[in-house]
Amino acid sequence: MKKPAHHVLVCASFRMSGEPQGVCHKKGSTSFLQYLESELADRGLDVAVSTTGCLKVCDRGPAVVVYPENWWYGHIDSEEAIDAVIDSIESGVPAADYVIA
Ligand code: FES
Repeated sequence: MKKPAHHVLVCASFRMSGEPQGVCHKKGSTSFLQYLESELADRGLDVAVSTTGCLKVCDRGPAVVVYPENWWYGHIDSEEAIDAVIDSIESGVPAADYVIA
């Protein structure tokens, strides 16, 4: 099995019941998944994307985490914000405007 160079976790607010009910989902976190996947593919980046349960930073949602860098991003609610996340993966420099400190 070939492991990806990066892994992007997108909070989809899944609860124990499996229902997406939290802040990130309500703010549209999953509505940008297709855009995220297609942009990563267009740039030829080796990145896996997964949706998660609540990442416990709801007040900053929609939340996204990039590994192995351990960059936590908040307010990822637009194509512009997604582009900033992808730019950070490509450049190796975190997207300062969205970093959760
Ligand atoms: S619902 Fe996304 S961080 Fe809590």
